[in-house]
Amino acid sequence: MGARPRAKRQGARHASAQGPTLRLRLATLDDARFLHRLRNDPVTRASSFHTEPIPYREHVAWLAKRLADPEKRVRLYVAMDGNGALLGQVRFDKDPKDPTRAEISIAVLPRFRDKGLGSRLLCLAVRRCPFDRILARIRIGNERSVRAFSGAGFARSGGIRKTPSPHLVLLCRRKTR
Ligand SMILES: CC(C)(COP(=O)(O)OP(=O)(O)OC[C@H]1O[C@@H](n2cnc3c(N)ncnc32)[C@H](O)[C@@H]1OP(=O)(O)O)[C@@H](O)C(=O)NCCC(=O)NCCS
Repeated sequence: MGARPRAKRQGARHASAQGPTLRLRLATLDDARFLHRLRNDPVTRASSFHTEPIPYREHVAWLAKRLADPEKRVRLYVAMDGNGALLGQVRFDKDPKDPTRAEISIAVLPRFRDKGLGSRLLCLAVRRCPFDRILARIRIGNERSVRAFSGAGFARSGGIRKTPSPHLVLLCRRKTR
């Protein structure tokens, strides 16, 4: 990787409000193209448990179903900079057995990576979401993701899980409602 100077990296880790403006809003069907591009980015696919590219029609059907779900099992945010340009997404999948818990996933467009935005988006999304306990599953080897989640206050829980492929679990417990 092109490692950033330590001082800059520390800044990203400890100051969730620093840097350019970031905004989150709930995704709509109009975001389908952007979300598809992000979802099929090769690095995003490689970080997922299902690594095959997703056809656009399948993606749109998935998105339409999730957005219309009355139980809101998936909560999907898109992230924008101060000019409204889309740069990433954060998704929460509610635990079917416990509505206060969710699994989180995130992706940022390639040109915005490694600038501290991932950690900041995670902080924003965690503050915005209605879940008290949030879990991230990160495939072994995705060190950038582990660091981004750690910078946002997630802590490792237990050892390496083996299925569906080797991964770590990181947890975050929200302090305030
Ligand atoms: C994971 C992702 C969201 C992180 O967002 P980001 O904006 O790149 O992350 P940040 O800049 O906030 O933090 C990156 C951290 O990883 C470090 N890093 C960057 N590239 C790295 C690499 N190749 N190896 C190890 N660490 C790396 C950075 O130094 C930084 O750590 P620091 O804050 O301790 O200095 C983004 O890279 C992405 O979209 N990846 C593809 C999808 C993905 O992997 N999603 C996560 C699935 S759980």
